[in-house]
Amino acid sequence: MKIENLDFYYFSGTGNTLLIVKKMVEIFEKYGIKVNLFKIEDSNSNEINLNHTIGLGFPIAELSTYDFVWNFIKDLPQTDNTDIFMVDTLGGFSGGIVGPVREIVKKKGYHPIGAKEIIMPSNIFYIPDKSTTKKKIAKGLIEAERYANSIIKGESNWGRVPLLSDGVYYISRTALKLTHSNLSQKYFCLDVDKEKCNKCGWCVELCPIKNIQIGKDRFPVNLRNCCYCLRCTSFCPKKAISAPFNFKGKTYRAVKTEEFLKFNQKII
Ligand SMILES: Cc1cc2nc3c(=O)[nH]c(=O)nc-3n(C[C@H](O)[C@H](O)[C@H](O)COP(=O)(O)O)c2cc1C
Repeated sequence: MKIENLDFYYFSGTGNTLLIVKKMVEIFEKYGIKVNLFKIEDSNSNEINLNHTIGLGFPIAELSTYDFVWNFIKDLPQTDNTDIFMVDTLGGFSGGIVGPVREIVKKKGYHPIGAKEIIMPSNIFYIPDKSTTKKKIAKGLIEAERYANSIIKGESNWGRVPLLSDGVYYISRTALKLTHSNLSQKYFCLDVDKEKCNKCGWCVELCPIKNIQIGKDRFPVNLRNCCYCLRCTSFCPKKAISAPFNFKGKTYRAVKTEEFLKFNQKII
């Protein structure tokens, strides 16, 4: 199998997946593969090019991934042997994603060529420790490079589904439902510090699911359907948004805010 064109669909909340995807793209391009990058949150599964190899990159959330990423995967069109691979980033344990996604894409006629989970710093309850963070990122990038190389050489694989993953998948689905419940949205609410906020509106752009709106006073309003990807809190240029999951108010970001905003603007 030789990859000529690759359409890489990805989402990154706090920059870990972005770093991994960028590293993989660098390797693919080095081997002459033409790569198009797409943001999952702005893409329609039905419009994907089935003649290209498809890549999926996303973070683990609650043992699997965010609902809008699931929806993108579940809505992929039927095809006849389109190559597809996935990569996810995580803090430590997932269990409910590699198997279930493989089942979904196989049923739709895709040819699953590789799946890889790459440990990166956990962005939730992040305990700042620069040296450990740096080491984890460096290790993650080495894994990304190896994985991309294995895909190019046709040596990657997307393993058989262990029974356990179906169980974990259902636990995860329940957790994701609870996350969107009124109770959770009320008590685990992202907060805006009106002293710090300069009403730039970037948080509205950053939110992948349009959960943030500009209010009458031009301060951001949380519409209470947050998926807790932490993107707004991580990349608010004024650091004005706090999340209940930030350890002692410390926010994780894998790349500088300016870099993230620039990159996020640039891609399709
Ligand atoms: C709401 C939420 C849930 C998470 N759940 C898990 C999890 O179940 N298992 C895990 O290993 N990491 C979990 N993490 C950590 C992230 O998967 C990890 O830090 C990931 O690399 C973040 O990628 P990103 O920076 O591209 O958003 C979670 C993070 C968040 C914000």
